Amino acid sequence: MHRINRRDFLRYSGFAGFSLLTGGIGAILEGCTIHSTKTPKSFVTPLIVPDTAGPLALYKPDSENFKIEAGTAKLKIVNEKESLLNVYKIKHQEKTLINPTILVQKGQELRVTLENGLSEDTIIHWHGLMVEDKMDGHPAYAIKPGERYEYKFKVKNRGGTYWYHPHPENLTAKQAYKGLAGILLVEDEEELQLRQSLELELGKNDIPLVIQDKRFDQAGNILYNPDDMEKIMGFHGNKVLVNLTLNPLLKVAKKFYRFRILNGSNARIYCLSLHSEQRRDFIPIYLIGTDGGLLDKPYKINKFFISPGERADILVDFTSFNTGEELFFKSLAFDPMDNEDAENMDNMGMQHDSLKAGEEINILKIVIHRETEKTFKIPQNLSSLKPINIKDSLTRKFRLSFTGKQWQINGQTFNISQFPVIVKKHSKEIWEIANDKKSMPHPMHLHGFMFQVLQRLNSPKQVQDLAIDQSGRTAMDLGWKDTVLIWPGETVRIAIDFTHDFTGDQVYLFHCHNLEHEDLGMMLNLKVKE
Ligand code: C2O
Ligand code: CU
Ligand code: CU
Repeated sequence: MHRINRRDFLRYSGFAGFSLLTGGIGAILEGCTIHSTKTPKSFVTPLIVPDTAGPLALYKPDSENFKIEAGTAKLKIVNEKESLLNVYKIKHQEKTLINPTILVQKGQELRVTLENGLSEDTIIHWHGLMVEDKMDGHPAYAIKPGERYEYKFKVKNRGGTYWYHPHPENLTAKQAYKGLAGILLVEDEEELQLRQSLELELGKNDIPLVIQDKRFDQAGNILYNPDDMEKIMGFHGNKVLVNLTLNPLLKVAKKFYRFRILNGSNARIYCLSLHSEQRRDFIPIYLIGTDGGLLDKPYKINKFFISPGERADILVDFTSFNTGEELFFKSLAFDPMDNEDAENMDNMGMQHDSLKAGEEINILKIVIHRETEKTFKIPQNLSSLKPINIKDSLTRKFRLSFTGKQWQINGQTFNISQFPVIVKKHSKEIWEIANDKKSMPHPMHLHGFMFQVLQRLNSPKQVQDLAIDQSGRTAMDLGWKDTVLIWPGETVRIAIDFTHDFTGDQVYLFHCHNLEHEDLGMMLNLKVKE
Protein backbone atom coordinates (compact mmCIF):
# COMPACT_ATOMS: atom_id res chain seq x y z
CA MET A 1 0.00 0.00 0.00
CA HIS A 2 1.31 3.40 -0.85
CA ARG A 3 1.67 5.57 2.15
CA ILE A 4 0.91 9.22 1.97
CA ASN A 5 2.52 11.14 4.72
CA ARG A 6 0.03 13.34 6.40
CA ARG A 7 2.36 16.31 6.46
CA ASP A 8 2.95 15.97 2.75
CA PHE A 9 -0.74 15.61 2.21
CA LEU A 10 -1.42 18.80 4.07
CA ARG A 11 1.31 20.58 2.20
CA TYR A 12 0.27 19.43 -1.28
CA SER A 13 -3.35 20.04 -0.72
CA GLY A 14 -2.45 23.49 0.51
CA PHE A 15 -4.79 22.96 3.36
CA ALA A 16 -3.68 22.89 6.94
CA GLY A 17 -6.91 22.85 8.87
CA PHE A 18 -7.00 20.93 12.09
CA SER A 19 -10.52 19.79 11.31
CA LEU A 20 -9.00 17.28 8.95
CA LEU A 21 -7.54 15.38 11.85
CA THR A 22 -10.75 13.94 13.13
CA GLY A 23 -12.70 13.89 9.92
CA GLY A 24 -11.93 13.21 6.31
CA ILE A 25 -8.37 12.11 6.57
CA GLY A 26 -9.29 8.63 7.73
CA ALA A 27 -9.63 7.41 4.18
CA ILE A 28 -6.18 8.55 3.28
CA LEU A 29 -4.32 7.61 6.39
CA GLU A 30 -6.08 5.02 8.47
CA GLY A 31 -5.15 5.16 12.13
CA CYS A 32 -2.66 2.64 13.39
CA THR A 33 -2.31 0.42 10.37
CA ILE A 34 0.21 -1.80 8.67
CA HIS A 35 1.85 -0.69 5.44
CA SER A 36 4.76 -2.97 4.82
CA THR A 37 4.52 -6.60 5.86
CA LYS A 38 8.06 -7.29 4.72
CA THR A 39 10.15 -8.57 7.57
CA PRO A 40 13.71 -7.31 7.28
CA LYS A 41 16.62 -9.72 7.38
CA SER A 42 18.71 -7.64 9.74
CA PHE A 43 17.02 -8.83 12.94
CA VAL A 44 19.59 -11.40 14.06
CA THR A 45 20.96 -10.12 17.39
CA PRO A 46 19.78 -12.31 20.27
CA LEU A 47 17.51 -10.28 22.51
CA ILE A 48 19.10 -9.49 25.87
CA VAL A 49 16.94 -11.07 28.57
CA PRO A 50 17.37 -10.87 32.35
CA ASP A 51 20.18 -13.19 33.39
CA THR A 52 22.67 -13.31 36.26
CA ALA A 53 24.91 -10.48 35.03
CA GLY A 54 25.02 -7.73 32.44
CA PRO A 55 22.12 -5.59 31.19
CA LEU A 56 18.75 -6.21 32.89
CA ALA A 57 20.22 -8.91 35.15
CA LEU A 58 17.79 -10.18 37.77
CA TYR A 59 18.48 -8.90 41.27
CA LYS A 60 16.58 -10.11 44.29
CA PRO A 61 17.44 -7.94 47.28
CA ASP A 62 17.30 -9.57 50.70
CA SER A 63 16.72 -7.70 53.91
CA GLU A 64 20.15 -6.11 53.70
CA ASN A 65 20.89 -2.72 52.28
CA PHE A 66 22.14 -2.78 48.70
CA LYS A 67 24.03 -0.20 46.70
CA ILE A 68 23.11 1.06 43.29
CA GLU A 69 25.49 3.33 41.44
CA ALA A 70 24.51 5.76 38.73
CA GLY A 71 27.58 5.64 36.51
CA THR A 72 28.80 4.68 33.07
CA ALA A 73 29.27 1.45 31.15
CA LYS A 74 30.37 0.45 27.68
CA LEU A 75 28.09 -1.89 25.79
CA LYS A 76 28.21 -3.25 22.27
CA ILE A 77 24.97 -2.08 20.75
CA VAL A 78 25.63 -0.86 17.20
CA ASN A 79 27.69 -3.40 15.23
CA GLU A 80 30.87 -4.11 17.12
CA LYS A 81 31.24 -0.56 18.36
CA GLU A 82 31.26 0.16 22.05
CA SER A 83 28.63 2.63 23.12
CA LEU A 84 29.19 4.66 26.25
CA LEU A 85 26.02 4.68 28.33
CA ASN A 86 24.88 6.04 31.64
CA VAL A 87 23.57 3.10 33.63
CA TYR A 88 22.62 1.88 37.07
CA LYS A 89 25.03 -0.69 38.44
CA ILE A 90 24.77 -3.19 41.25
CA LYS A 91 27.84 -5.23 42.21
CA HIS A 92 26.71 -8.67 43.21
CA GLN A 93 28.87 -11.75 43.78
CA GLU A 94 31.77 -10.29 41.78
CA LYS A 95 29.46 -9.54 38.90
CA THR A 96 28.20 -6.22 37.62
CA LEU A 97 24.49 -6.01 36.98
CA ILE A 98 23.57 -3.23 34.59
CA ASN A 99 20.18 -1.58 34.86
CA PRO A 100 19.17 -4.59 36.96
CA THR A 101 15.67 -6.00 36.94
CA ILE A 102 14.91 -5.66 40.64
CA LEU A 103 12.56 -8.32 41.98
CA VAL A 104 10.74 -7.60 45.25
CA GLN A 105 7.76 -8.89 47.22
CA LYS A 106 4.75 -6.85 48.14
CA GLY A 107 5.28 -5.77 51.74
CA GLN A 108 9.03 -6.06 51.54
CA GLU A 109 11.15 -3.34 53.07
CA LEU A 110 13.71 -1.98 50.63
CA ARG A 111 16.91 -0.33 51.71
CA VAL A 112 18.92 1.10 48.88
CA THR A 113 21.87 3.47 48.74
CA LEU A 114 22.13 5.48 45.56
CA GLU A 115 25.68 6.55 44.78
CA ASN A 116 26.03 9.33 42.26
CA GLY A 117 28.92 8.41 39.98
CA LEU A 118 27.82 10.86 37.29
CA SER A 119 29.30 14.30 36.73
CA GLU A 120 26.01 16.04 37.49
CA ASP A 121 23.12 15.91 39.94
CA THR A 122 20.81 12.93 39.96
CA ILE A 123 18.18 11.11 42.01
CA ILE A 124 16.20 7.89 41.51
CA HIS A 125 12.44 7.95 41.12
CA TRP A 126 10.60 4.63 41.59
CA HIS A 127 7.98 5.07 38.91
CA GLY A 128 4.62 3.72 40.07
CA LEU A 129 5.62 2.89 43.63
CA MET A 130 3.56 4.42 46.42
CA VAL A 131 6.25 5.72 48.73
CA GLU A 132 6.75 8.64 51.08
CA ASP A 133 7.78 11.79 49.23
CA LYS A 134 11.33 11.72 50.57
CA MET A 135 11.72 8.32 48.93
CA ASP A 136 10.06 9.30 45.67
CA GLY A 137 12.94 11.02 43.93
CA HIS A 138 11.39 14.45 43.72
CA PRO A 139 14.00 16.78 42.13
CA ALA A 140 14.26 18.64 45.45
CA TYR A 141 16.19 15.63 46.76
CA ALA A 142 18.72 15.40 43.92
CA ILE A 143 22.27 14.72 45.06
CA LYS A 144 25.58 16.05 43.75
CA PRO A 145 28.29 13.97 42.09
CA GLY A 146 29.96 11.73 44.61
CA GLU A 147 27.10 12.00 47.08
CA ARG A 148 24.82 9.27 48.39
CA TYR A 149 21.10 9.04 49.03
CA GLU A 150 19.57 6.50 51.37
CA TYR A 151 16.22 5.02 50.42
CA LYS A 152 14.20 3.06 52.89
CA PHE A 153 10.60 2.20 52.12
CA LYS A 154 8.06 -0.54 52.18
CA VAL A 155 6.71 -1.85 48.89
CA LYS A 156 2.95 -1.32 49.10
CA ASN A 157 2.05 -1.85 45.48
CA ARG A 158 0.27 -4.78 43.96
CA GLY A 159 2.27 -7.28 41.97
CA GLY A 160 3.21 -5.70 38.67
CA THR A 161 5.78 -4.13 36.42
CA TYR A 162 7.22 -0.86 37.69
CA TRP A 163 10.43 0.92 36.84
CA TYR A 164 13.06 3.31 38.10
CA HIS A 165 14.77 6.22 36.40
CA PRO A 166 16.40 9.59 37.19
CA HIS A 167 14.39 12.68 38.13
CA PRO A 168 16.72 15.68 38.65
CA GLU A 169 15.32 19.00 37.51
CA ASN A 170 16.02 19.73 33.82
CA LEU A 171 18.25 16.65 33.52
CA THR A 172 15.75 13.79 33.54
CA ALA A 173 15.40 13.53 29.78
CA LYS A 174 19.11 13.49 29.05
CA GLN A 175 19.97 11.01 31.78
CA ALA A 176 17.17 8.61 30.89
CA TYR A 177 18.04 8.85 27.20
CA LYS A 178 21.69 8.07 27.90
CA GLY A 179 20.58 4.82 29.47
CA LEU A 180 19.55 5.25 33.10
CA ALA A 181 16.41 3.12 33.52
CA GLY A 182 15.55 -0.26 34.96
CA ILE A 183 12.58 -2.52 35.66
CA LEU A 184 11.25 -3.26 39.13
CA LEU A 185 8.97 -6.26 39.43
CA VAL A 186 6.70 -6.63 42.42
CA GLU A 187 5.41 -10.08 43.30
CA ASP A 188 2.27 -10.86 45.27
CA GLU A 189 -0.04 -13.84 45.68
CA GLU A 190 -2.04 -13.35 42.48
CA GLU A 191 1.10 -12.75 40.49
CA LEU A 192 2.78 -15.92 41.74
CA GLN A 193 -0.38 -17.90 41.16
CA LEU A 194 -0.53 -16.80 37.55
CA ARG A 195 3.14 -17.61 37.01
CA GLN A 196 2.65 -21.03 38.50
CA SER A 197 -0.48 -21.93 36.57
CA LEU A 198 1.05 -20.97 33.22
CA GLU A 199 4.57 -22.13 34.13
CA LEU A 200 5.97 -18.70 33.48
CA GLU A 201 9.62 -18.39 34.30
CA LEU A 202 11.33 -15.01 34.60
CA GLY A 203 13.90 -14.50 31.89
CA LYS A 204 12.67 -17.60 30.00
CA ASN A 205 9.04 -17.17 28.98
CA ASP A 206 8.29 -14.19 31.21
CA ILE A 207 10.36 -11.44 29.66
CA PRO A 208 10.46 -7.70 30.18
CA LEU A 209 10.69 -5.74 26.94
CA VAL A 210 12.04 -2.25 27.47
CA ILE A 211 11.44 -0.35 24.25
CA GLN A 212 13.57 2.76 23.74
CA ASP A 213 14.45 4.75 20.67
CA LYS A 214 17.88 6.31 20.64
CA ARG A 215 20.11 8.26 18.33
CA PHE A 216 23.70 7.18 17.81
CA ASP A 217 26.69 9.05 16.41
CA GLN A 218 29.32 7.62 14.05
CA ALA A 219 31.38 6.24 16.91
CA GLY A 220 28.34 4.35 18.23
CA ASN A 221 27.73 6.63 21.20
CA ILE A 222 24.34 7.86 22.20
CA LEU A 223 23.71 11.35 20.95
CA TYR A 224 21.44 13.59 22.95
CA ASN A 225 21.38 17.03 21.40
CA PRO A 226 17.82 18.24 20.99
CA ASP A 227 17.46 21.55 19.24
CA ASP A 228 14.77 24.01 20.31
CA MET A 229 12.13 22.32 18.16
CA GLU A 230 13.00 18.89 19.46
CA LYS A 231 12.75 20.11 23.01
CA ILE A 232 9.22 21.16 22.19
CA MET A 233 8.25 18.04 20.23
CA GLY A 234 10.28 15.54 22.18
CA PHE A 235 13.51 13.93 21.06
CA HIS A 236 13.13 10.99 18.71
CA GLY A 237 15.83 8.45 17.99
CA ASN A 238 16.82 6.87 14.71
CA LYS A 239 17.06 3.36 16.13
CA VAL A 240 14.66 1.43 18.31
CA LEU A 241 16.21 -0.85 20.91
CA VAL A 242 14.56 -3.56 22.97
CA ASN A 243 16.40 -4.33 26.21
CA LEU A 244 19.37 -2.37 24.81
CA THR A 245 19.49 -4.77 21.83
CA LEU A 246 19.44 -3.40 18.30
CA ASN A 247 17.55 -5.46 15.68
CA PRO A 248 16.67 -8.09 18.27
CA LEU A 249 15.66 -11.69 17.65
CA LEU A 250 13.95 -13.95 20.17
CA LYS A 251 13.62 -17.68 19.61
CA VAL A 252 10.59 -19.09 21.36
CA ALA A 253 9.21 -22.50 22.16
CA LYS A 254 5.64 -23.49 21.27
CA LYS A 255 4.13 -22.34 24.52
CA PHE A 256 2.81 -19.36 26.41
CA TYR A 257 5.01 -16.32 26.67
CA ARG A 258 4.48 -13.32 28.81
CA PHE A 259 5.99 -9.98 27.82
CA ARG A 260 6.07 -7.09 30.24
CA ILE A 261 6.44 -4.16 27.94
CA LEU A 262 7.73 -0.81 29.14
CA ASN A 263 7.85 2.16 26.84
CA GLY A 264 11.06 3.65 28.20
CA SER A 265 11.43 6.09 25.31
CA ASN A 266 11.66 9.81 25.97
CA ALA A 267 8.98 10.89 23.52
CA ARG A 268 7.99 8.14 21.10
CA ILE A 269 4.55 6.57 21.21
CA TYR A 270 4.18 3.09 19.72
CA CYS A 271 1.13 1.36 18.29
CA LEU A 272 2.21 -2.17 19.06
CA SER A 273 1.06 -5.31 17.33
CA LEU A 274 2.34 -8.80 16.66
CA HIS A 275 2.24 -9.70 13.00
CA SER A 276 2.87 -12.81 10.93
CA GLU A 277 4.06 -12.24 7.40
CA GLN A 278 3.22 -15.80 6.38
CA ARG A 279 -0.33 -15.58 7.72
CA ARG A 280 -0.59 -11.95 6.61
CA ASP A 281 -2.39 -11.38 9.85
CA PHE A 282 -2.17 -10.04 13.37
CA ILE A 283 -1.54 -12.52 16.17
CA PRO A 284 -3.89 -12.17 19.16
CA ILE A 285 -2.41 -10.45 22.17
CA TYR A 286 -3.94 -11.01 25.60
CA LEU A 287 -3.53 -7.90 27.70
CA ILE A 288 -3.37 -9.12 31.30
CA GLY A 289 -1.93 -6.12 33.09
CA THR A 290 -1.19 -2.43 32.88
CA ASP A 291 0.84 0.04 34.99
CA GLY A 292 -0.31 -1.17 38.40
CA GLY A 293 -0.55 -4.92 37.89
CA LEU A 294 -3.07 -7.50 36.70
CA LEU A 295 -6.43 -6.64 35.14
CA ASP A 296 -9.65 -8.37 36.16
CA LYS A 297 -9.35 -10.70 33.18
CA PRO A 298 -7.36 -10.99 29.93
CA TYR A 299 -8.42 -8.70 27.09
CA LYS A 300 -7.89 -10.04 23.59
CA ILE A 301 -6.62 -7.27 21.32
CA ASN A 302 -4.48 -7.00 18.23
CA LYS A 303 -2.94 -3.58 18.71
CA PHE A 304 -2.55 -0.96 21.38
CA PHE A 305 -0.97 2.42 21.93
CA ILE A 306 1.76 2.59 24.55
CA SER A 307 3.17 5.98 25.49
CA PRO A 308 6.35 6.87 27.39
CA GLY A 309 6.14 5.59 30.96
CA GLU A 310 3.29 3.12 30.39
CA ARG A 311 3.53 -0.64 30.86
CA ALA A 312 1.62 -3.42 29.12
CA ASP A 313 1.67 -6.95 30.47
CA ILE A 314 0.71 -9.36 27.70
CA LEU A 315 0.38 -13.07 27.03
CA VAL A 316 0.96 -14.65 23.64
CA ASP A 317 0.15 -18.25 22.83
CA PHE A 318 2.74 -19.69 20.45
CA THR A 319 1.56 -23.30 20.72
CA SER A 320 -0.19 -23.51 17.35
CA PHE A 321 2.65 -22.08 15.26
CA ASN A 322 4.93 -24.07 13.00
CA THR A 323 8.58 -24.45 13.76
CA GLY A 324 10.47 -21.84 11.80
CA GLU A 325 7.57 -19.46 11.57
CA GLU A 326 8.55 -15.81 11.93
CA LEU A 327 6.63 -13.08 13.67
CA PHE A 328 7.31 -9.43 14.25
CA PHE A 329 6.45 -7.05 17.01
CA LYS A 330 5.78 -3.90 15.04
CA SER A 331 4.76 -0.40 15.78
CA LEU A 332 2.09 0.32 13.20
CA ALA A 333 1.80 3.59 11.33
CA PHE A 334 -0.47 6.13 12.97
CA ASP A 335 -1.24 9.80 12.90
CA PRO A 336 1.14 11.34 15.46
CA MET A 337 -1.10 14.43 15.76
CA ASP A 338 1.87 16.52 16.60
CA ASN A 339 0.61 20.03 16.11
CA GLU A 340 1.42 20.42 12.46
CA ASP A 341 -0.81 23.31 11.67
CA ALA A 342 0.71 25.60 14.25
CA GLU A 343 2.81 27.73 11.89
CA ASN A 344 5.77 28.07 14.18
CA MET A 345 6.00 24.33 14.48
CA ASP A 346 5.91 23.46 10.83
CA ASN A 347 8.35 20.84 9.65
CA MET A 348 9.27 19.74 13.09
CA GLY A 349 10.62 16.28 13.55
CA MET A 350 11.54 16.10 9.89
CA GLN A 351 15.15 17.11 10.30
CA HIS A 352 18.02 14.68 10.89
CA ASP A 353 17.61 11.06 10.04
CA SER A 354 15.26 10.32 12.89
CA LEU A 355 12.35 7.95 12.53
CA LYS A 356 9.31 10.17 12.35
CA ALA A 357 6.67 10.05 15.04
CA GLY A 358 3.96 7.64 13.97
CA GLU A 359 6.16 5.88 11.45
CA GLU A 360 5.89 2.11 11.06
CA ILE A 361 8.77 0.39 12.86
CA ASN A 362 9.88 -3.21 13.24
CA ILE A 363 10.66 -3.80 16.88
CA LEU A 364 11.39 -7.43 17.66
CA LYS A 365 11.58 -10.55 15.54
CA ILE A 366 10.29 -13.80 16.96
CA VAL A 367 11.07 -17.22 15.53
CA ILE A 368 9.29 -20.37 16.66
CA HIS A 369 11.97 -22.95 17.14
CA ARG A 370 11.09 -25.56 19.73
CA GLU A 371 8.29 -27.96 20.53
CA THR A 372 6.74 -28.35 23.94
CA GLU A 373 4.31 -30.97 25.11
CA LYS A 374 2.16 -29.06 27.51
CA THR A 375 -0.66 -26.78 26.52
CA PHE A 376 -2.35 -24.21 28.67
CA LYS A 377 -5.54 -22.23 28.64
CA ILE A 378 -5.76 -18.48 28.86
CA PRO A 379 -7.05 -17.87 32.39
CA GLN A 380 -10.62 -16.58 32.73
CA ASN A 381 -10.02 -14.37 35.72
CA LEU A 382 -6.91 -12.69 36.99
CA SER A 383 -7.83 -10.39 39.83
CA SER A 384 -10.69 -8.43 41.29
CA LEU A 385 -10.47 -4.68 40.99
CA LYS A 386 -12.51 -2.39 43.15
CA PRO A 387 -13.57 0.86 41.57
CA ILE A 388 -12.68 3.96 43.56
CA ASN A 389 -15.79 5.31 45.21
CA ILE A 390 -16.22 8.72 43.58
CA LYS A 391 -19.63 9.51 44.98
CA ASP A 392 -19.58 13.15 46.16
CA SER A 393 -16.05 13.57 44.84
CA LEU A 394 -14.73 16.92 43.79
CA THR A 395 -13.84 17.34 40.11
CA ARG A 396 -10.58 19.14 39.44
CA LYS A 397 -9.87 20.39 35.96
CA PHE A 398 -6.58 20.49 34.12
CA ARG A 399 -5.89 21.97 30.73
CA LEU A 400 -2.85 21.07 28.63
CA SER A 401 -1.83 23.86 26.30
CA PHE A 402 0.98 25.35 24.28
CA THR A 403 2.17 28.95 24.44
CA GLY A 404 4.28 28.87 21.28
CA LYS A 405 7.35 28.20 23.37
CA GLN A 406 6.29 25.95 26.19
CA TRP A 407 3.80 23.32 27.23
CA GLN A 408 1.70 24.22 30.22
CA ILE A 409 -0.65 22.61 32.70
CA ASN A 410 -3.38 25.03 33.69
CA GLY A 411 -1.27 27.88 32.33
CA GLN A 412 1.63 27.01 34.57
CA THR A 413 5.06 25.44 34.37
CA PHE A 414 7.17 23.81 37.04
CA ASN A 415 8.42 25.86 39.94
CA ILE A 416 10.04 23.71 42.57
CA SER A 417 8.89 25.96 45.41
CA GLN A 418 5.30 26.45 44.30
CA PHE A 419 2.37 24.17 45.04
CA PRO A 420 -0.39 24.86 42.55
CA VAL A 421 -2.26 21.62 43.30
CA ILE A 422 -3.21 20.94 46.90
CA VAL A 423 -5.36 17.97 47.78
CA LYS A 424 -6.47 16.54 51.09
CA LYS A 425 -5.10 13.31 52.44
CA HIS A 426 -7.72 10.52 52.27
CA SER A 427 -9.85 12.46 49.78
CA LYS A 428 -11.03 11.01 46.50
CA GLU A 429 -11.05 13.25 43.47
CA ILE A 430 -11.97 13.15 39.82
CA TRP A 431 -9.44 14.80 37.58
CA GLU A 432 -10.66 15.98 34.22
CA ILE A 433 -7.64 16.49 31.99
CA ALA A 434 -8.36 18.29 28.73
CA ASN A 435 -5.78 18.54 25.99
CA ASP A 436 -6.09 21.48 23.60
CA LYS A 437 -6.85 20.79 19.96
CA LYS A 438 -3.72 22.58 18.87
CA SER A 439 -1.48 20.33 20.85
CA MET A 440 0.18 16.97 20.69
CA PRO A 441 -0.35 13.74 22.64
CA HIS A 442 0.76 14.04 26.27
CA PRO A 443 1.29 10.96 28.47
CA MET A 444 0.33 12.42 31.85
CA HIS A 445 1.87 10.79 34.90
CA LEU A 446 1.13 11.04 38.60
CA HIS A 447 3.55 10.26 41.41
CA GLY A 448 2.55 8.71 44.69
CA PHE A 449 -0.84 7.24 43.75
CA MET A 450 -2.30 4.86 41.24
CA PHE A 451 -5.47 6.04 39.54
CA GLN A 452 -8.35 4.61 37.52
CA VAL A 453 -9.34 5.91 34.10
CA LEU A 454 -13.08 6.63 34.00
CA GLN A 455 -13.72 8.00 30.56
CA ARG A 456 -12.30 9.32 27.30
CA LEU A 457 -14.16 12.10 25.54
CA ASN A 458 -13.67 13.55 22.03
CA SER A 459 -11.06 10.99 21.16
CA PRO A 460 -9.52 10.95 17.69
CA LYS A 461 -10.75 8.18 15.41
CA GLN A 462 -7.62 6.03 15.83
CA VAL A 463 -8.27 5.95 19.57
CA GLN A 464 -12.06 5.52 19.26
CA ASP A 465 -11.34 2.47 17.11
CA LEU A 466 -9.72 0.81 20.11
CA ALA A 467 -12.46 1.58 22.62
CA ILE A 468 -13.69 -1.43 24.58
CA ASP A 469 -16.90 0.07 25.95
CA GLN A 470 -19.18 3.12 26.08
CA SER A 471 -16.72 5.02 28.26
CA GLY A 472 -14.37 5.38 25.30
CA ARG A 473 -11.61 3.70 27.24
CA THR A 474 -9.16 1.39 25.51
CA ALA A 475 -7.87 -1.83 27.06
CA MET A 476 -4.69 0.03 28.04
CA ASP A 477 -6.77 2.35 30.24
CA LEU A 478 -8.02 -0.49 32.42
CA GLY A 479 -6.77 -1.53 35.83
CA TRP A 480 -4.57 0.65 38.00
CA LYS A 481 -2.68 3.31 36.11
CA ASP A 482 -0.01 5.88 36.79
CA THR A 483 0.33 7.25 33.26
CA VAL A 484 -2.42 7.99 30.76
CA LEU A 485 -2.05 9.20 27.19
CA ILE A 486 -4.16 12.20 26.28
CA TRP A 487 -4.52 13.01 22.58
CA PRO A 488 -5.09 16.47 21.09
CA GLY A 489 -8.67 17.60 21.58
CA GLU A 490 -9.33 14.81 24.01
CA THR A 491 -10.53 14.95 27.61
CA VAL A 492 -9.72 12.09 29.96
CA ARG A 493 -11.38 11.66 33.35
CA ILE A 494 -9.57 9.76 36.06
CA ALA A 495 -10.36 8.85 39.68
CA ILE A 496 -7.71 9.17 42.38
CA ASP A 497 -7.79 8.09 46.00
CA PHE A 498 -5.34 10.22 47.99
CA THR A 499 -5.30 7.86 50.93
CA HIS A 500 -1.87 7.14 52.36
CA ASP A 501 -0.42 6.36 55.76
CA PHE A 502 2.65 8.58 55.81
CA THR A 503 2.91 11.33 58.37
CA GLY A 504 2.89 14.98 57.39
CA ASP A 505 2.26 16.79 54.13
CA GLN A 506 3.55 14.95 51.09
CA VAL A 507 4.84 16.55 47.89
CA TYR A 508 4.53 14.58 44.69
CA LEU A 509 4.46 15.48 41.00
CA PHE A 510 2.01 15.53 38.13
CA HIS A 511 3.77 15.77 34.79
CA CYS A 512 3.98 14.83 31.16
CA HIS A 513 6.15 11.75 30.60
CA ASN A 514 7.35 13.04 27.29
CA LEU A 515 10.62 13.73 29.07
CA GLU A 516 11.52 16.75 26.98
CA HIS A 517 8.17 18.24 27.94
CA GLU A 518 8.79 17.40 31.57
CA ASP A 519 12.22 19.04 31.56
CA LEU A 520 10.76 22.05 29.81
CA GLY A 521 8.44 22.43 32.78
CA MET A 522 5.27 20.52 31.90
CA MET A 523 5.11 19.44 35.51
CA LEU A 524 3.47 20.65 38.71
CA ASN A 525 4.05 20.00 42.37
CA LEU A 526 1.18 18.21 44.04
CA LYS A 527 0.83 18.66 47.77
CA VAL A 528 -1.17 16.15 49.76
CA LYS A 529 -2.13 17.93 52.97
CA GLU A 530 -2.65 16.20 56.30
CU1 C2O B 1 8.53 8.10 35.40
CU2 C2O B 1 8.06 11.56 37.33
O1 C2O B 1 8.35 9.87 36.28
CU1 CU C 1 6.77 8.41 38.31
CU1 CU D 1 3.73 16.38 26.81
